[in-house]
Amino acid sequence: MDARTSRYHETYAHWQRDPEAFWREAATEIDWFESPKTIFDPNAGVYGRWFPDAVCNTCWNAVDRHVQAGRAHQPALIYDSPVTGTKQTISYVDLQTKTQVMGGILRNFGVGKGDRVLLYMPMVPEAIVAMLACARIGAVHSVVFGGFAPKELATRIDDAKPKVILTASCGIETARVIAYKPLLDAAIDLASHKPDACVILQRPQLQADLVSGRDHDWQTLWDDALVWAKSVYDCVPVLATDPLYILYTSGTTGRPKGVVRDNGGHMVALKWSMQNLYGVKPGETWWCGSDIGWVVGHSYIVYAPLFHGATSILYEGKPVGTPDAGAYWRVISEHGAVAFFTAPTAFRAIKKEDPEGKHFTKYDLSKFRTLFLAGERADPDTIQWAERLLKKPVIDHWWQTETGWCIAGNPVGLGQLPVKHGSPTVPMPGYDIRVVDDASKEVPRGAMGSLVVKLPLPPSCLPTLWNDDARMTESYLAEFPGYYKTADAGYLDEDGYVYVMGRTDDIINVAGHRLSTGGMEEVLSGHQDVAECAVLGIKDSLKGEVPCGFIVLKAGVNRAHAEIEQECVGLVRDKIGPVAAFKLAITVNRLPKTRSGKILRGTMKKIADGDEWSMPATIDDPAVLDEIGSALKSKGVGA
Ligand code: COA
Ligand code: AMP
Repeated sequence: MDARTSRYHETYAHWQRDPEAFWREAATEIDWFESPKTIFDPNAGVYGRWFPDAVCNTCWNAVDRHVQAGRAHQPALIYDSPVTGTKQTISYVDLQTKTQVMGGILRNFGVGKGDRVLLYMPMVPEAIVAMLACARIGAVHSVVFGGFAPKELATRIDDAKPKVILTASCGIETARVIAYKPLLDAAIDLASHKPDACVILQRPQLQADLVSGRDHDWQTLWDDALVWAKSVYDCVPVLATDPLYILYTSGTTGRPKGVVRDNGGHMVALKWSMQNLYGVKPGETWWCGSDIGWVVGHSYIVYAPLFHGATSILYEGKPVGTPDAGAYWRVISEHGAVAFFTAPTAFRAIKKEDPEGKHFTKYDLSKFRTLFLAGERADPDTIQWAERLLKKPVIDHWWQTETGWCIAGNPVGLGQLPVKHGSPTVPMPGYDIRVVDDASKEVPRGAMGSLVVKLPLPPSCLPTLWNDDARMTESYLAEFPGYYKTADAGYLDEDGYVYVMGRTDDIINVAGHRLSTGGMEEVLSGHQDVAECAVLGIKDSLKGEVPCGFIVLKAGVNRAHAEIEQECVGLVRDKIGPVAAFKLAITVNRLPKTRSGKILRGTMKKIADGDEWSMPATIDDPAVLDEIGSALKSKGVGA
């Protein structure tokens, strides 16, 4: 842990001196059909494009090249599912066959290069096979997290316009079986775009009804394709700049943003990160305990470990309750994982249930080297608890769906830098992080401001939003000319360590899941009795933040408040999904506003969180804040 012995500073300086040479060198780790001649074209795309003349295939790099290079019988995936009592090991050669077969199935539905395939799937190997099969045939996948409701799914179907949708009969949440198929049927009814076909994986826990003419049984197609598809579908050459996937993430309104990931830059950056950031070697076992519906799952359950020739664990379970708070230690120990990556919320859940770490002592974690945390601010308490228990480095790192990999982290592979609790450490090569004020002027070290990244963004970051260059510019590039706006606020300290303190927009982070309070407000406003509303993220000891909705009823509404509040809770669950974790709606007579009519959300949040607050000078009527405080207290919230 010595800044002087780490190769980070020389590596970052190398990138600063000659970014193109840096990424040209990193690109040699990838198998190209046509190697990049141009590394970066500043005139292409919205802010430039990486490797614009290179030709490649992502599935080849994740699977086939390893089969050819002697890893055919090494496990590529270890599926560990305590919720179904299943374990399965899939070698690289098995994965090759499976992606060929699945590629064949998709091709038979007319899916070709550039066509979209939407996945609404639980954490099963078939989902990863399908993602890789899309990459194999040049199709673009869009995975939607299972906790989203039909309306959210419908919005994504209408934006991505998939030819085929893949789903399963159910997901399993601890012990509850969640039927996925009725949610998909409802979404297709709501959507204007209709897929040509749906392929349904029937799980033993629940049989789904199939719609005749549209729905197909996964296993039947599989058994058939196994006969003819194997080795027929080789990896289709695509441009490095062709899209690999679209992943929708919360924007500042209810309309999600379709983050586009390209093929070439994604491979180069992710491959680089496995060794240099995570310190993992090819052939080692790695575990990322996210969900394939999130970016962390895309990058570090599926793509990066496979590009690297490592073994990746796919875990269908929770940190607690499947069956106990020792589940994570069991998985790490049983499969010999050398590193593990998850969200701090998962460790808060374990700490709550097993503060003494009694379960931990039952397992042999001798192969385990490093714990990585991301997805939300890692509170020092949780980090210190994990450090005490593991006696191994606990590394926070900061990133976003938009970037696809880490913006700031502690590069264990280059030599770990000293950890400062509360900071995800330093910018990765590729990211020139600045802190600016509202006029785009850099603020002094130590001062808070907007965290921005000097353009261009490095490989793997979004080149644009799906079919929406204008929204890309407006959302990320317009406010601070020459920079990418992260929409996070924070500061840099005298050693160049980054501190990420919170969002500057209405995004909140609930159990590591990114949600838009604006989207929830749109739902609440749709309730017949609601005149006005405000949704805020308030502190939660387990999930970091949870949403809290204040509603003002229309004049003349005299139904019981509790009943309306319950309906509001139900409405958000129905329209956005259980993942929103929206459980608290509070009726108030009015909302605190400035004289110009802006809702004072910041002050409301401080009151709810029990933090110090002062009366805003611009407030219209100071008495409203007391009303908010009393309303919160009546629900057991706030100091
Ligand atoms: N399909 C259907 N429903 C889902 C789902 C899925 N894939 N994932 C979550 N849900 C449901 C949950 O069952 C829960 O429903 P409920 O309100 O009926 O109980 C709701 O969505 C909220 O889920 P969550 O916020 O995850 O809460 P939880 O109490 O189920 O679990 C944690 C809390 C901390 C254990 C869990 O969030 C976790 O493991 N998080 C860390 C890992 C992670 O996923 N990070 C994301 C990016 S790195
Ligand atoms: P997502 O796009 O879902 O990955 O969420 C991205 C957002 O999560 C970021 O903009 C941050 O607000 C937050 N975030 C992610 N990682 C960290 C971290 N290590 N520290 C603080 N905030 C984080």
